[in-house]
Amino acid sequence: MKVVTTIVATLSSAGFVRAHVAAFTKGMYCLNGTEPGVEDLNTNTVVNPLFQLPKNQWWMQHDRGCDSDQFRPSPGDFLELPAGGSFTIELAHNRAQTTLSYDGKFTSEWPDGKEHPEDWHSPNNRDCLLANPDGLGGAMHTHNESTAAGTAFAISYNSDISKVTMENLAVFTVLEHTPWKRLATYQVPRDLPSCPEDGCYCAWLWIPDGCGEPNMYMQNFKCRVTGSNSTRTVAPAKAPVYCGDGNAPCVSGAKQMIAWNQAEGNNVETPAGVSPGYNQKMGWQPGAQNDIFQ
Ligand SMILES: *[C@@H]1O[C@H](CO)[C@@H](O)[C@H](O)[C@H]1NC(C)=O
Ligand SMILES: *[C@@H]1O[C@H](CO)[C@@H](O)[C@H](O)[C@H]1NC(C)=O
Ligand SMILES: *[C@@H]1O[C@H](CO)[C@@H](O)[C@H](O)[C@H]1NC(C)=O
Repeated sequence: MKVVTTIVATLSSAGFVRAHVAAFTKGMYCLNGTEPGVEDLNTNTVVNPLFQLPKNQWWMQHDRGCDSDQFRPSPGDFLELPAGGSFTIELAHNRAQTTLSYDGKFTSEWPDGKEHPEDWHSPNNRDCLLANPDGLGGAMHTHNESTAAGTAFAISYNSDISKVTMENLAVFTVLEHTPWKRLATYQVPRDLPSCPEDGCYCAWLWIPDGCGEPNMYMQNFKCRVTGSNSTRTVAPAKAPVYCGDGNAPCVSGAKQMIAWNQAEGNNVETPAGVSPGYNQKMGWQPGAQNDIFQ
């Protein structure tokens, strides 16, 4: 019990300062954190957001070394994407609150390992769940489920991650109203072709809709497409355009990740006070993106 208390206390204090959300699953970079040779079951290295950084720092979480070969997934570990099917990952504030640590002992239905009502929301839906003084419950960056901005995965058909660019990294699936619960299931386009021998690069992506520092998330994975018969090719990705107010047409087809509120490398503009997000306001319908092919 003592061990448990220590872990939870450590998580709470870390949680207050910087708990946010990231995707935990086989194939992730920085699974063990960034201390060489140490398996950190409590790591939140991948969780910390990207804010006002030069591109060479925010791209693939270079700021914390998560693009380094040293912290790549073990050989043979891939996030598997079944063509025409779906895959499930765990959204959490810390590895400790996932099934990747402690046999899942600290998991709940929620990213913080705690219990919350099904209609979890801030008082009057006005404040942010971020401001909830409940320690680990913070930093959901939303008022309630309906205002959760949406998260996405993008894919690049390069095993060598130094070859990945904004143009060859295309968003292929969007999950609306997330991050919300711990388990999150994303749909895969049927026409996604197979990856090279050593896999593809995938990124988990999120931009919250306000509720805290306007930041972004780009997290690294080795991934591969399974069960594909497709000979199609993903088209070069174009920058998305904010079309939520009807003043500009939405961009259709393969779209880039959103680079926003960084010191450098931003690819979208929004009206003052409006966050872009992986949702219809930036031209993404929920689910598998079946229009991304040449
Ligand atoms: C994480 O640490 C464990 C235990 O040392 C090790 O078996 C595993 O290979 C490490 N995984 C990665 C991706 O570094
Ligand atoms: C690929 O072809 C096999 C055999 O015809 C079929 O069972 C499977 O459903 C196909 N996969 C996809 C993603 O269409
Ligand atoms: C969620 O919060 C928003 C923003 O305050 C509010 O407009 C909406 O009605 C809330 N949704 C639910 C289901 O309570």
